Amino acid sequence: MKIALLGKGKTGGKVLELMLLAEIKHTIFDSQNNPTIEKLQEHDVIISFLPGEAFKTYIPLLVETKIPVICGSTGMSWPLEFDQQLKDKNIKWIYATNFSLGMNLVQQMILILSRANKIYDNFKFSLNEIHHTKKLDAPSGTALSWKSWAGHEMDITSIRKDDVIGIHELTLSTPYEEISLIHNALDRRIFADGALFAANKVFNDKLLAPGLHLFQDIIQQELKEELQ
Ligand SMILES: NC(=O)c1ccc[n+]([C@@H]2O[C@H](COP(=O)([O-])OP(=O)(O)OC[C@H]3O[C@@H](n4cnc5c(N)ncnc54)[C@H](OP(=O)(O)O)[C@@H]3O)[C@@H](O)[C@H]2O)c1
Repeated sequence: MKIALLGKGKTGGKVLELMLLAEIKHTIFDSQNNPTIEKLQEHDVIISFLPGEAFKTYIPLLVETKIPVICGSTGMSWPLEFDQQLKDKNIKWIYATNFSLGMNLVQQMILILSRANKIYDNFKFSLNEIHHTKKLDAPSGTALSWKSWAGHEMDITSIRKDDVIGIHELTLSTPYEEISLIHNALDRRIFADGALFAANKVFNDKLLAPGLHLFQDIIQQELKEELQ
């Protein structure tokens, strides 16, 4: 498998480190070496950790290559009917606002917390996220995913501080108790590990259908199959 890595900043740099360790063939694209169709077509999988706005400008080019894309870029919206567009062209993409494999366990825990309305009359959810000062989007893509998994309205507060990689804290409060769930990313390699896991999946799993897949959906499906 030969990988085209878009962006070798704080997160893409970790993907690069892991690719070097595993001796995976690769090319790096950034502001100095912009991707072109010809250059990308020498690869089997594209991984992006570009800022969302930059990634968005490359979407038409990436679709044209027909190469599978693993997208970790956040802070952008997908073009309309994008999943259908990929299906029509027989292309497979996987995206995640947070490629940490542990996020799948967090998702299960949030699904349990989402049942609060079955036992409480009076409760509320709130979410606080903290990231480094260079992060462009707020609230974080992960915070928005957590909110959608919880399925309840909630206030989200965003703090930008020092070089914090990413802390998310969801709190369920009633007048008499509080339950908090915290995920603290200690090293960006968790995102790089997840993105490379997704790259292997899209390259090797011939049964993966064309379209735009959320990484967490793929893992949850695998967890379900394990349990059966
Ligand atoms: N999904 C996840 O699990 C996850 C985890 C962490 C971060 N992220 C997201 O990943 C993205 C990158 O984050 P980061 O902290 O790694 O950013 P970063 O350190 O600023 O790195 C950005 C990289 O993108 C390149 N770049 C920027 N604009 C470009 C353009 N127009 N054309 C080509 N290359 C360009 C930069 O190259 P130059 O230095 O040459 O400009 C740099 O290599 C953000 O959207 C962030 O939210 C996602």
